Amino acid sequence: MTLEGHVPDLWHPAREWERGAEDIIDVWRFELDVQEHDWAILTPDETRSARRIVVAEKGGRKASARANLRRILARYIDTPPEDVSFVYGEHGKPMLAEQDEPQFNLSDSGTKGLVAVSRGVRIGVDIEHARGNRSFTGIADRFFAQSESDALRALPSESRPAAFYRAWTRKEAYLKAWGTGLTFASNRFTLDYVGEGPGTLLTTEMPNDDVSRWHFRDVALGQDYKGAICFEGPDRPIRWWTV
Ligand SMILES: CC(C)(COP(=O)(O)OP(=O)(O)OC[C@H]1O[C@@H](n2cnc3c(N)ncnc32)[C@H](O)[C@@H]1OP(=O)(O)O)[C@@H](O)C(=O)NCCC(=O)NCCS
Repeated sequence: MTLEGHVPDLWHPAREWERGAEDIIDVWRFELDVQEHDWAILTPDETRSARRIVVAEKGGRKASARANLRRILARYIDTPPEDVSFVYGEHGKPMLAEQDEPQFNLSDSGTKGLVAVSRGVRIGVDIEHARGNRSFTGIADRFFAQSESDALRALPSESRPAAFYRAWTRKEAYLKAWGTGLTFASNRFTLDYVGEGPGTLLTTEMPNDDVSRWHFRDVALGQDYKGAICFEGPDRPIRWWTV
């Protein structure tokens, strides 16, 4: 499978991080290496929810994702990671409990995790471990709008995997920025994804939304992974950090 497409690879080591200007978006990537000290900073609820996952290795990765999220947010709010406290939106989107900012979103897939952090604007993020042996057009028929699914079918078969994951991660990132979970169907909005540009929202049935409000960026994650972020405008600078 070829996940062709050029995405700028501009990652900086986390140790170089310092607080940025108000309008900056920080994107963080990390490996889900399960460490004992990850479990130590989780709440009992977070520990229970990771331990409930039947495959222990996957539960460990969930714990690692949460621990990384805590360590990342701790930088912004000057608190120890174990003291970061969350509340949840109606459909499960985590937010900080004691302050509105920064806003953030987490995604994990395979052995990698991604967190994006913004101020003043909603943000969503998605990462997918890309697999080649899937019926991309079949999945698109189920989850994409008709025009998006037609666009995938019109591509030569070797270009479909990359295009599929580009569309999927952008669509998921948009839904995660809104925090609607499964309550807003992924075929009720369309975006462009076939070209190499960052993509734009073309149509949406989301109440009180406007297509010009949202921006997308693909995330460079190496050969087998695709990632995207979606954030509210105006457009703003992005910094890329690797933990
Ligand atoms: C949680 C959800 C939003 C994403 O799930 P996912 O893709 O399996 O998982 P990800 O790793 O990308 O994201 C999970 C994280 O998102 C965050 N999250 C949970 N609910 C969320 C919501 N409603 N909105 C935004 N973020 C959410 C959490 O931090 C969660 O991690 P945690 O469980 O460790 O706390 C899922 O419920 C969902 O609705 N997905 C939409 C599915 C869909 O129709 N996709 C079609 C795309 S074409």
